[in-house]
Amino acid sequence: MTTALRAACVIGWPVEHSRSPLIHNYWLKRYGIAGEYRREAVRKEEFAAFAETLAARGYVGANVTVPHKEAAFALSQPDERARAIGAVNTLWLESGVLRSTNTDVEGFLDNLDACAPRWDRDTGKALVLGAGGAARAVIYGLLSRGVERIVVANRTAGRAEALRTRFGKRVQVADWAEVAAELVDAALLVNTTTLGMHGQPALALDLARLRGHAIVADIVYVPVVTPLLAAARVRGLLTADGLGMLLHQAVRGFMLWFGRTPEVTGELRALVEADLKISM
Ligand code: ATR
Repeated sequence: MTTALRAACVIGWPVEHSRSPLIHNYWLKRYGIAGEYRREAVRKEEFAAFAETLAARGYVGANVTVPHKEAAFALSQPDERARAIGAVNTLWLESGVLRSTNTDVEGFLDNLDACAPRWDRDTGKALVLGAGGAARAVIYGLLSRGVERIVVANRTAGRAEALRTRFGKRVQVADWAEVAAELVDAALLVNTTTLGMHGQPALALDLARLRGHAIVADIVYVPVVTPLLAAARVRGLLTADGLGMLLHQAVRGFMLWFGRTPEVTGELRALVEADLKISM
């Protein structure tokens, strides 16, 4: 392995589906940076040993994906947002110390800012569907931007209750069966469940109940236009898609590893979108 290049990687199991190499290698080429971004297929039981020897392997940092996000959190020194969320997706070495953060927060917020400028001017209530790691990042982000009330609904109610305990009184819980009724006064609807993903059932919701200025965001990005987003667009609502979030979440990792804040361009979006279509 050459050590002249700055190198980063995505660590996962499986890792083949990850679009991070496409994104980061696009930026490396665009900015003429002598670097490399690779895939590393690492089993759960081998993750700790891998993460602890990142530098010896020639890496300045890494993305972590399923199933390593909680393990990476436990093995590193997380920043404040990663501690609040309890899972990390980005690692970097700082003076020999393995640091970590969760860039899904700014991925979600920056994409929302790009798709629905001034969305946070009058938020009132946000309705978040799902209660996994992605929901934690979304809720942390919404709270940080001053959203007054976040209602979380999840198929398994106990996981939604755990989010209320984690994030406090501005987070409330609704029954999964009550989602339709909760739409009526929501300013923002965010799907963080896997419903609507290629091969999964669609999220069956009647968006006619949403107000005309409501915004709909989905974290699913295969397909890019989920049934939920398609219905929202038919209804004339502003939408923020999961592909935009994926691209924006990659920005901070690139900056940490390669020292330049990259731009989310239309060209990059088209490149990743074309690759996603091939896999469907
Ligand atoms: P992540 O950490 O990436 O957000 P996760 O923890 O697997 O992923 O969460 C997936 C979310 O999709 C969960 O909220 C899950 O609901 P449960 O907590 O009840 O499992 C939700 N989900 C998955 N399949 C679903 C389905 N068929 N109906 C409703 N919710 C579903």
